[in-house]
Amino acid sequence: MSETTLTAEAYATGLLNKDLPTEVSRLRLLEQTYDPGTFALLEKLDIDPSWQCLELGAGAGSVAYWLADRVPYGGVVAADLDPRFIDADHSPQLSVRRMDLNEEDFAPGSFDLVHARAVFMHLPRREEVLQRAVSWLRPGGRLVLEDVYFLPAEDSPYPEWRQAQRAWLTALAAQGIDLAWARRTPSRFAAAGLESVGVAVTPGGLGIDAVQDELLRIRLLQSGHSLVDAGLLTEAQIDRARTLVAHVPAPDVSTFLYSSWGRRPTADRAVGPGPRDIA
Ligand SMILES: C[S@@+](CC[C@H](N)C(=O)[O-])C[C@H]1O[C@@H](n2cnc3c(N)ncnc32)[C@H](O)[C@@H]1O
Repeated sequence: MSETTLTAEAYATGLLNKDLPTEVSRLRLLEQTYDPGTFALLEKLDIDPSWQCLELGAGAGSVAYWLADRVPYGGVVAADLDPRFIDADHSPQLSVRRMDLNEEDFAPGSFDLVHARAVFMHLPRREEVLQRAVSWLRPGGRLVLEDVYFLPAEDSPYPEWRQAQRAWLTALAAQGIDLAWARRTPSRFAAAGLESVGVAVTPGGLGIDAVQDELLRIRLLQSGHSLVDAGLLTEAQIDRARTLVAHVPAPDVSTFLYSSWGRRPTADRAVGPGPRDIA
């Protein structure tokens, strides 16, 4: 079995697998948390109604739906290893494709916009997939990748969160997730030949708002038993972390969502809006 097949399986059977009864709620909370920032960023790209867009790792579908509503003369491909939560009937502009990004490709120059959120961090050969994603853009097309950068668990002011977060990060890393890839993304965009590269960050963590606290509560519920089985946490530590999530005295930022963007150069290097125009 190849490394990539193993890792696709790691996602399909791991801490975020879609057979878990709470995973669809977790994905929807992720959307509620990050969609406002994602939509504000994409809005600044001046999406043309004829654009062809690709949403990679489309999850529960909100970004693909949002894009489909903006391209009445174009189209959106929502691609995912397991697209069971995406409604293919949302729009005639939307098509859903079950695919493993590690293994499968699109024709070069197919898309005006390629977007992915919280996906590349999961891919074992993310740098190679990034090169391929650039090739899928037409000249002048935009790549927007968003991934989570995790701050060190040890820096949390709350001991019970330090324990829970350390266990969570250990389990994510064991599943093959790169906890720091997000920070490297803008530099990799430049290395891949993209221009007008820019980045924005969105904080995540405890006590920021009710949606994020619910996301963390569900995460503890969903992953708690796996973390105990792996010897990373005890039931008592999970209970303490759960109590903290319910009554956190002040926010504790533990992640940054890095949103990176860049544009494939046109043959004549004509310029459009620069990075600060869409930041
Ligand atoms: C954490 S979820 C993020 C969902 C969505 N992008 C969002 O931000 O709301 C990651 C998504 O990537 C998909 N995924 C993971 N590995 C993949 C792969 N190798 N190929 C295609 N999709 C993959 C998962 O099935 C899942 O839907």
